[in-house]
Amino acid sequence: MLSEAQRAVAPVDEARDDARFFALLRARELSRVDRARQTYLDWTGSALHPESLVRRHAQSLHDTVLGNPHSDSLASRASTSLIEAARAAVLRFLDASSDDYDVCFCANASGALRLVGEAYPFGRGSQLVLAADNHNSVNGIRTWARTAGATVRILPLDDELRLHGGITALGTERATEPSLVAFPAQSNFSGVRHPLELVHRAHELGFDVLVDAAAFLPTSPLSLREVRADFVALSLYKITGYPSGIGALVARRAALAKLRRPSFSGGTVEAVSAWDDVHVLKQDSEAFEDGTVNFLGLAAVPAALEFMTSVGMSRITRRVSALARDLTDRLASLHHRNGAPLVALYGANGSDHGATIAFNVLDAGGNVVPYWHVEERARESRVSVRGGCFCNPGAAERALGIDAGALADCLRVARERQHAFSHAWLAECLGTPVGALRISLGYGSDSTDISRGLGLLEHWRV
Ligand SMILES: Cc1ncc(COP(=O)(O)O)c(C=O)c1O
Repeated sequence: MLSEAQRAVAPVDEARDDARFFALLRARELSRVDRARQTYLDWTGSALHPESLVRRHAQSLHDTVLGNPHSDSLASRASTSLIEAARAAVLRFLDASSDDYDVCFCANASGALRLVGEAYPFGRGSQLVLAADNHNSVNGIRTWARTAGATVRILPLDDELRLHGGITALGTERATEPSLVAFPAQSNFSGVRHPLELVHRAHELGFDVLVDAAAFLPTSPLSLREVRADFVALSLYKITGYPSGIGALVARRAALAKLRRPSFSGGTVEAVSAWDDVHVLKQDSEAFEDGTVNFLGLAAVPAALEFMTSVGMSRITRRVSALARDLTDRLASLHHRNGAPLVALYGANGSDHGATIAFNVLDAGGNVVPYWHVEERARESRVSVRGGCFCNPGAAERALGIDAGALADCLRVARERQHAFSHAWLAECLGTPVGALRISLGYGSDSTDISRGLGLLEHWRV
C-alpha cells in the first residue's frame, strides 16, 4: 500500500516516466515529423503512422502471396485467413466476444455508418434520435429515416457542449417500433466525451444504439463487454494512422440480423438469378462487405492494433489528457495587453474530455479572427491544425451561437442559387463567425508541439 506521501509523488513519477517513454517512442516511430520541421496538431483528423508498422507490413507483403479472397486458391485462402485475423484483432481491441459481435470491413467510419443507416428497419412509428453533436456521416442517417417515415429527434447541447440533461437526455418515452439512438463517444468538434451509460439507458427504453467511436478510440480504451452498443463505427487510420482506407462496423450479431440490406453486390451474395428477382445473401458480416475488401491493407490491421495495445491505451489516455489540460490552461491564460482574452474556448471545461480542443482567436475588441486567417499562418509556420466546423454542424452552431433558422435560410439561398459556396460567404450571410480552430493530440504529441501551436497565436496578441 502507498503512504499518503508516496501517493502524492506517484503521479509526478508517472508523468516523468510517461514523458521518457513517449519521447523514445516518438524518436523511434515519428522522426519524419521533426525531419520535415513540421508540427502536427490534427490527430483527430488522422493519427500519424508508426514507421515500424509500415516496415512490418512491407515485409509481410514481400513474403506472402495474397490473392483475391473470393477465389478458393491458395493465394485466396491466405488472404481470407488474414482478413479473419483482422476481424479477431478488432474484436480484441474492443474487448468484444466473437459470440456476441461481428466485424464488417468497409472503407472508413462513414462507410460503417452508412451500412447501418441504409439498412436499419426504420418505418412509420420508428424514431431516430441524434445527438446535436454528431459528425455529418451520422447526421446523414436522417435521410433514410425520414424517407421510411420515421420521426427524427435531436438531443440539444448545453453551454458546455454536453448533452442537455446528460444521462437523462433521452427522456422516458419508450420506443414501440424499431428505433435508433446515435451519438459520438467523443465529439470530433469539442473533444467532449458523452456518457456511455446512455447505451444502457437507451436499451431500457427499447432503442438500438449506434456509437460513433471514430474520435474516441485513438486515445481511449473501449470495452464492448461493458458498453453493450449495438453498432460501433470506426476508421483504422484515425487510431494508428495506418492503414488508411479501412473502416469497420462492429455490430452485435443480434443487431446485425435486424438490418435489411437495400441491395446486393459482388461479395455479398451466395447466388443470384440473373432473370428472376431472387438472390441469397451471405451470412453475417460478409453480407455487408461490397466487392473485394482491402485485403492487402487488412493484413496490417492486427499489427496496427497491437501497436496501440503495446503502448497501452490507458497510458495513452493519461498522457494526452495531461497534455490537453496543459494546452487548455495555457490557451485560457492568453490575453491581450488590454486584458481581453486572446482565445474563446468551446466546450473545454469538465473532466470527461478527450485531447481535442476547439477555439477561436479573438482580437483585442473581442471579435473573432476568421479561422482561415489563422489556418493560413499555421501553414506558413508548418503547423497542421484544423479549421472550419469539422463536419459537425450541430456542435459548431451551439459553440458559435449560430441561429438554426438563419443558417437554414442561408443554406437554402446557397442551394437554390447554386451559390459558389464558401465559409466567408456564409459568415457574411449570417453576420456571425461560422467556424473554429481545432488542435488535437495523439500518442505522438509532446509539449514542444503544444508550445509551437501556442506560439502561432502570438501573432494576434496586441
Ligand atoms: C466522430 C467522427 N465520426 C465520423 C468520422 C468520419 O470518418 P471517416 O472520414 O474516416 O469516414 C469522423 C472523421 O473525422 C469523426 O471524427
